[in-house]
Amino acid sequence: MADTWEALRQECLQCRGCSLAETRKHVVFGDGNSAAKIMLIGEGPGATEDEQGLAFVGKAGKLLDDMLEIIHLDRTQVYITNIVKCRPPENRDPLNVEQEACIGFLRRQTAIIRPRIIVCLGRIAAMQLIKSDFKITREHGQWFEKAGVRMTAIYHPAALLRNPERRPDTFDDLKGIEAEIRRVCPEVYS
Ligand code: URA
Repeated sequence: MADTWEALRQECLQCRGCSLAETRKHVVFGDGNSAAKIMLIGEGPGATEDEQGLAFVGKAGKLLDDMLEIIHLDRTQVYITNIVKCRPPENRDPLNVEQEACIGFLRRQTAIIRPRIIVCLGRIAAMQLIKSDFKITREHGQWFEKAGVRMTAIYHPAALLRNPERRPDTFDDLKGIEAEIRRVCPEVYS
């Protein structure tokens, strides 16, 4: 039977597939438009997201909203989610075993949305989705293609809060993303 968005969401909200289920307050399924042409994928919920059950609502999320505004987008035109849907304790990187336990949900979200462009937010998403040896400092802003989907990675907004000197590079990467959207799915801007 074809997956439906709501069935997938309900299954995800009840998941106990890894030990993050023991410590989470809320599962964070994602936010935005499930018919979007563009998906943005972070690594995992932080403390604020875990409290509220919503993706990218803390400080990094506010910066992500500003980054979207730079390319004339808002959350109604994209879908935002994470590699793991539950908060890793102390905001540590999600373990491989946790990523593997959770990745099926992202695959199924992607199969339903069928985005034209995927933007990885940070190293963890890029290593999981683009290539396992992805080097974010060297390869941010470069474009890759997988199964007809255009893919790139930019610095995670939390990394930009910690390292503001990386913002000019990210501005250029964002402009590159805008250009790619105009090329691949211009209807987003019409
Ligand atoms: N960082 C992430 O990677 N995802 C969120 O949802 C929030 C912070």
